[in-house]
Amino acid sequence: MELEEGAYPKLMVRPTVVITTVSKRGIPNAAPFSFNSPISFDPPLYGFSCNPAHDTWRNIQDNGEFVVNVVNKGFGELMHVLETDYPYEDNELKHAGLTEERARTVSPPRIKEAIAWIECKFEQGVELGDHIWVVGRVQSVGVNDEYWKGVLAVEKANPLCHIAGEFFAADMRGVTYKRAKR
Ligand SMILES: Cc1cc2nc3c(=O)[nH]c(=O)nc-3n(C[C@H](O)[C@H](O)[C@H](O)COP(=O)(O)O)c2cc1C
Repeated sequence: MELEEGAYPKLMVRPTVVITTVSKRGIPNAAPFSFNSPISFDPPLYGFSCNPAHDTWRNIQDNGEFVVNVVNKGFGELMHVLETDYPYEDNELKHAGLTEERARTVSPPRIKEAIAWIECKFEQGVELGDHIWVVGRVQSVGVNDEYWKGVLAVEKANPLCHIAGEFFAADMRGVTYKRAKR
């Protein structure tokens, strides 16, 4: 079946993250993102695609820091709260009943209930189409112990993945495959 060009993201299951930032006055903001990816090991770089109208982008320009919170199925019911366009400096984490934890290296808080967190300092923003590709340099990474077995413990962590709109994927099974010797 041929699809219209703009349908291409609906073919891809992408990890959902909640990105936390702070305003100039230090007030937290949180929003879900699924156009996101690791970019480089050395230096460790992470990227996500952000609509330039989002408070997340405004805060990153003002403060230069963000935390990528990797989230699980338990966050599914909170997506509509976290993506609500509340007035600027109205903290979505409070609306969602989530717990702020102090990050180790940056001022935005991390989310205690998340599977894992990646603390980043803004490196560059590249205007690509109608979004900004926001690149951050990873400063510190952490995971809740119960979700770690040398790699992400997929079944236990149960990451929440996004397809499009209200369509998500969860309850995945981890599988291993032999790789070529390097
Ligand atoms: C699961 C999910 C994934 C999303 N992914 C993106 C994304 O990759 N890029 C983007 O710009 N907005 C994305 N959004 C929309 C933003 O989260 C939403 O517009 C939010 O209100 C932006 O918040 P902010 O203005 O506080 O930054 C997504 C929303 C949901 C629910």
